[in-house]
Amino acid sequence: MNVLLIGSGGREHALADKLSLSPVLHTLYCAPGNPGIAEVAECVVLDVTDHKAVVDFCRVNGVGLVVVGPEAPLVDGLADSLKSASVPVFGPSAAAAQLEGSKGFTKALCDRMGIPTAAYAKFNNAPKAKNYIRSRGAPIVIKADGLAAGKGVTVAMTLEEAFAAVEDCFEGAFGEAGAEVVIEEFLTGEEASFFCLCDGTTALPLTTAQDHKRVGEGDTGPNTGGMGAYSPASIMTEALIAETMERIIEPTMKGMAEQGMPFTGVLYAGLMLTADGPKLIEYNVRFGDPECQVIMPRLKEDLLLLMKGAADGLLSSMGARWRDAAAATVVMCAPGYPASAEKGSVIKLPKSVDLPEGVTIYHAGTARKGDNLIANGGRGLNVTAMGKTVTEALETAYRAIDMIDWPEGFCRRDIGWREIEREANG
Ligand code: AMP
Ligand code: GLY
Repeated sequence: MNVLLIGSGGREHALADKLSLSPVLHTLYCAPGNPGIAEVAECVVLDVTDHKAVVDFCRVNGVGLVVVGPEAPLVDGLADSLKSASVPVFGPSAAAAQLEGSKGFTKALCDRMGIPTAAYAKFNNAPKAKNYIRSRGAPIVIKADGLAAGKGVTVAMTLEEAFAAVEDCFEGAFGEAGAEVVIEEFLTGEEASFFCLCDGTTALPLTTAQDHKRVGEGDTGPNTGGMGAYSPASIMTEALIAETMERIIEPTMKGMAEQGMPFTGVLYAGLMLTADGPKLIEYNVRFGDPECQVIMPRLKEDLLLLMKGAADGLLSSMGARWRDAAAATVVMCAPGYPASAEKGSVIKLPKSVDLPEGVTIYHAGTARKGDNLIANGGRGLNVTAMGKTVTEALETAYRAIDMIDWPEGFCRRDIGWREIEREANG
């Protein structure tokens, strides 16, 4: 089968690596890809906002499955265009992608299906929003309704911060995404991510992960796309996974189907493990980045068959087995990230054969310039390692990082600290 993968980040490099191992794969194309992906796929230039061009590419190249990495093309209806042209696609319709594209949509679904989540209210003007905030008090959480590249959420510890966030939204800081705001109760607990493959009817549980969103050590400083991750997250016990399936994922699948927008693709639940059980913080309709980079190396199955199974509605007869090992990834960033990353510094990677066993360096924001590999975005590399434990995987990942010659690049040295503490305490 020929496959077209869409995207250019570390997530897509991890997907490309795994897809490339499938015995049923013929050619893997990736649009636009990156220098790491180019080692396992044929990178092609395609404007993914031009749906006709994507459909034509699939027809000309006999593509039997399109795998969409990031959320933006999904929210933009690429999966719908492909499906209408009878091209199988892994990823939800625009309607179903509202689970990520509109916080208000997801909250309304939670209301209707009784899914545990933070109490909330939705507003389209600042005075009413502020009155509500005054009545609830701080801490409180302010969210732009739409897609805001991960920047639309403010966890406000004071009323002043909350008011400022509301003003930012309505003054256009997040463009159209901030035309409405969702104001939420502040939840306390530990966060965990849970992933399922979905075929419209069946949700097949995958595994768990935890990431670090803050740029600084000790989880401080501004939010980023994610500075590192590990899988599995031991805090998500089998019992919590079962509870999450029953109280959150299954009712979501049912509710979406009832609304005529069955969910296909990967459903990524951001959970808060509260004293009252797991609560949904948010949904994403794609793999996490960098969570995908720690999930793929642990998966024992043929990813292509699973994704095709999801696209074809066949997941009820499939399963996912996992290597009995942990994976961890550390993100190396270009200087200035996340505010404004400086591009162009030269990255020298060790030869693969010299890397410690079980290490893969996924490329995210890199480019080729002449003979050099250079930084071409905020998050440059995802240094991923396997180990018997998360602690061991991280030790190996940091050993590999110390072999990378990129003086300008930086990373957090404390990825996985919670899990390392848990492992140390047995
Ligand atoms: P989101 O983009 O919805 O995942 O929010 C980004 C981050 O804000 C989450 O990962 C949480 O750390 C935090 N957050 C979001 N909603 C809440 C909430 N209701 N209570 C506490 N923290 C939250
Ligand atoms: N790492 C968080 C995300 O992909 O949304």
